[in-house]
Amino acid sequence: MKVAFGSDHAGIELKLQLMEHLKDQGYECVDYGNFDPNDRGDDYPVPGRKVAEAIASGEAQKGVLVCGTGVGISLAANKVPGIRACCCSEPATAALSVRHNNCNIISMGARIIGREEAFMIADAFFSAKFEGGRHAKRVEMLSAIERDYGDRNC
Ligand code: RB5
Repeated sequence: MKVAFGSDHAGIELKLQLMEHLKDQGYECVDYGNFDPNDRGDDYPVPGRKVAEAIASGEAQKGVLVCGTGVGISLAANKVPGIRACCCSEPATAALSVRHNNCNIISMGARIIGREEAFMIADAFFSAKFEGGRHAKRVEMLSAIERDYGDRNC
């Protein structure tokens, strides 16, 4: 599986650690930026969008995003149709975000959690499977919201 990674300056160190962690498990890990931890003027919507578009286009299957809180970069990703990005700080939510919501991106805050917690979150996210059934209908309802707004000429 190809996994797209993205971060702003605040998340670069944790992103690189997560890439190594997942590479060790056999995942193909690709970094969509940003790359310079000293560029404090970079903006989280840029890598959030790049990773989301890589998944939406089929170039990658899942994504990992990191910024200071994990919030801004997940909001950016969630603007791209077909993306369900979960920002979370503990493994239980990460697993349920796949099992119930079929999330395709996990987002974390480098200023909120430590490396070991991040690894546990990533492991929970990548080992979980979507359960379908009653959850499939609800995920389809999310897609319907995207379609409804995509059809508007405003
Ligand atoms: C950057 O200072 C910070 O605002 C960003 O990394 C993130 O926390 C935004 O949600």
